[in-house]
Amino acid sequence: MCGIVGYLGLNEKKEILLDGLQELEYRGYDSAGIAVIEGKKLHNFKAIGKLENLREKTKTYHSEGFGISIGHTRWATHGKPTELNAHPHLGAYSYVVHNGIIENYQELKHELQADGVTFLSQTDTETIVHLFEKNHKTTPDAFLAFEKTIQRLEGAYATLLITEAAPDTIFFAKQGSPMLIGFSKEDVYFASSDTPIIGKADEVYYLEDGEYGYAKAGEVKLFNAGGEKSFTKQALTSDKISAQKDGYRFFMEKEIYEQSRVMSETMIGRVRDESIYFEELGEDFFDGITSIKICACGTSYHSALCAAYLFERLAKVRCDVEIASEFRYKEPLLLKDTLFVTISQSGETADTLEALKMAKRAGLKSLSICNVDNSSIVRQSDAAILTRAGIEKGVASTKAFATQTMVLWMLAVYLGQTRKTLSSVLAKTEIDAMLHTPKALIVGDELHAKLHRLSKRYLHGHGFFFIGRDIFYPLALEGALKLKEISYLHAEGYPAGEMKHGPIALADSELFTVALMPRTMHYDKIKSNVEELSARDATILAISPEPFALADDFIQTQYATHPMLEFFEMMVVTQLFALEISVRLGNDVDMPRNLAKSVTVE
Ligand code: F6R
Repeated sequence: MCGIVGYLGLNEKKEILLDGLQELEYRGYDSAGIAVIEGKKLHNFKAIGKLENLREKTKTYHSEGFGISIGHTRWATHGKPTELNAHPHLGAYSYVVHNGIIENYQELKHELQADGVTFLSQTDTETIVHLFEKNHKTTPDAFLAFEKTIQRLEGAYATLLITEAAPDTIFFAKQGSPMLIGFSKEDVYFASSDTPIIGKADEVYYLEDGEYGYAKAGEVKLFNAGGEKSFTKQALTSDKISAQKDGYRFFMEKEIYEQSRVMSETMIGRVRDESIYFEELGEDFFDGITSIKICACGTSYHSALCAAYLFERLAKVRCDVEIASEFRYKEPLLLKDTLFVTISQSGETADTLEALKMAKRAGLKSLSICNVDNSSIVRQSDAAILTRAGIEKGVASTKAFATQTMVLWMLAVYLGQTRKTLSSVLAKTEIDAMLHTPKALIVGDELHAKLHRLSKRYLHGHGFFFIGRDIFYPLALEGALKLKEISYLHAEGYPAGEMKHGPIALADSELFTVALMPRTMHYDKIKSNVEELSARDATILAISPEPFALADDFIQTQYATHPMLEFFEMMVVTQLFALEISVRLGNDVDMPRNLAKSVTVE
């Protein structure tokens, strides 16, 4: 996820910006840049890769006297991680940094291009600075031109703009993406989270959506739709690690809560009213392909299993899924009309990477679905679709799984549309459901509190079975994996219909069954599977929109109009369930024992 810093004052600006950006490294980034105006002079530096590269580029530059400055770390979403795409973006005499996504940037860009503006980058952000300068031509007051600019922006943004037209002022606006203003005796800071300003500012104001304004020496003015606003500053925390967690107890918890937002980012530019579009795939990408093979490990393997149902159902394309470490040594039959897909959060998992190399040696076309641009798997693949989940710090994967599954669902619909195996009516139903997904992922306070309460009853016993059918079977596998990774309790995922072929022998009151019982997918079938377990006295935690009389514990879900909405809502329940059990057991939620975030060895 991108990071923003800003500084206005007398101190050396370059160091403040670089140190601030360093504090935001934990969010992940692939390029960085700063812009400073001192006196009337503008200085701008950008570099791809780590901040050391930017430090190297700026080593002979030192700012002097009063000035204004902005900086940014970018995690590529629209356009590759290149210097041209790095922020700050330049107009003729102004610079802008931005986090979030300007949803109507294409429309604005076309409008500006028609006015003769040349765009240097592929980003949505660049539209802001050009739009500002266009408005400034007719509205000479820079603040009014800025106000006019943000009124045209749709989507999510936290943005800072500086301009030679007002060389003592930083303009700011916030809608949807976080931003704060830090205050010390003489200086003003901006940042996308507390960490860059801890130790520098004493007080802070967290901007609300819809707020914007400007800062000059000794003066910060805040506005919203109702006009000028007064605001109350509060004392700034001094704990950096807790600041990085944005107030959550654990990174994993923060990442569960982030899922609703990152899912919107995964869809932006790809999900349109009537169709799915991937700028990463050429029109002929699937030509000659008759089947798909997916290889992945762990959680990514579970999203692959889910995809197999979706590809066959929606796109009518045969799809096999294999665990990468198994695939590597089985001497697989690889046929050239098979598309080889790898799925990986890190893009560095050794087994998945080796499986990809094998497929390439056999001449297969490859596609990766990955969260990290420029990772080994992305570089080795013929094409890559980024999941845009932002950096995932919790070892137990959550938002990466959610976004992988979303990309695969979109890909299944895309394929169904391009191959005409999916009618436009059905495609519309899928797309409508996709657009509702961010809502289904919002974590309600009541739900979290209930899972916290209920977790105390699940700290013992001789194991958990997570059961589901169809796409809820991979979700059951994933729910069980989450629980065992961070609670160290034994848990298995099972297809519900398979329990009677053996595992039901384990059933007694100390066997906990987490039953995924969606309304829109084989409800009666799973219901009777759960009844069989209940009859053997198993303890049942049912997750369903339908009240279920035999449940010992029951979580009622809300979104029951489409299987994928049910899937994502239930996914959140299983993630929080695992989290709360792990907390009660006193485990290290973010760094569970024996596990590593990126498994680069066989
Ligand atoms: C589970 C988890 C692991 C990873 C697996 C593959 O929470 O994180 O199972 O999913 O190690 O990693 P990636 O997706 O980076 O290839």
